Amino acid sequence: MDAAYLEARCRLVDAALDRFLPKAKTRPATIHEAMRYSLFAGGKRLRPVLCLASTEACGGSVEAALPPAAAVECIHTYSLIHDDLPCMDDDDLRRGRPTCHVKYGEGIAVLAGDALLTLAFEILAQTAPSRRHGVAGYVSELAVASGSRHLIGGQVLDLEGEGSDILLSPAQLRYIHESKTAALLTTSIRLGAMTANATPAKLAALSTYGRSLGLAFQIIDDILDVTSTPEKLGKSVGKDEATAKSTYPALYGLEKSRKEAAKLTKQAHDALKPFAKKAERLHEIADYLLDRDY
Ligand code: IPE
Ligand code: IPE
Ligand code: MG
Ligand code: MG
Ligand code: MG
Repeated sequence: MDAAYLEARCRLVDAALDRFLPKAKTRPATIHEAMRYSLFAGGKRLRPVLCLASTEACGGSVEAALPPAAAVECIHTYSLIHDDLPCMDDDDLRRGRPTCHVKYGEGIAVLAGDALLTLAFEILAQTAPSRRHGVAGYVSELAVASGSRHLIGGQVLDLEGEGSDILLSPAQLRYIHESKTAALLTTSIRLGAMTANATPAKLAALSTYGRSLGLAFQIIDDILDVTSTPEKLGKSVGKDEATAKSTYPALYGLEKSRKEAAKLTKQAHDALKPFAKKAERLHEIADYLLDRDY
């Protein structure tokens, strides 16, 4: 992966987020500080970068895709703030910093998450429609992916699947990972394509890419929880095993999990055939994610 490309994209996304977010001093300052604290703590910006690369693959303007790119990062950051709460994964470290509730207290952390969730739709509503796709379509796309049938639904099953007395089936585990992670990734890619006036055939190909990539991404996240360090990841490790979470390494072991992630990444590449050269960045991102160590 071209590091300069990634860095330039992250800078573009961060500048857009800074424009879209209320200033830290906006009243009441606590909530705006807390939102910015979690959002600007680092983070790979994977979902917005995918959104912009997908726009490019469909021949659209990166500028026009900045609102959906910022919106998906707001949803993602909200989901992390809530995921870290004591009533969920109970984590103290995120993006190399104390988690939002450790820094600001649980009440403010819940509200900062809520505020990022609603702000995402305020930002998304500012996206220009393309010929085939209207603003209502964008909003519905993001709402469905973030809602109780996808991201939130996956988090519900993830919580309910905790505990050593519960052994999930491969199909159940796959469903959790598709819901809690692959759905928002896929929607990030689809929104970028929609602003670029993508045809239904292109959207279908990108959805296949997103589902495979998203699943591979969560498998690697599970693997890193076993093999990496807090210094590298910027978040705690070993928690999945400690809480007996249903993960790929828990169900299949590390070796098989790695193979599965590689197989899914290959499927992601294959889905991009209709785009030929235009999907170069999407190909690069898929390889980068498979090989990542943070
Ligand atoms: C972490 O996502 C949560 C998962 C869905 C696996 P990322 O690994 O993209 O987290 P950041 O944005 O880089 O912090
Ligand atoms: C989180 O999955 C998925 C969402 C936040 C939707 P994890 O609980 O595995 O993410 P990390 O490992 O805490 O980043
Ligand atoms: Mg979790
Ligand atoms: Mg977690
Ligand atoms: Mg994890």
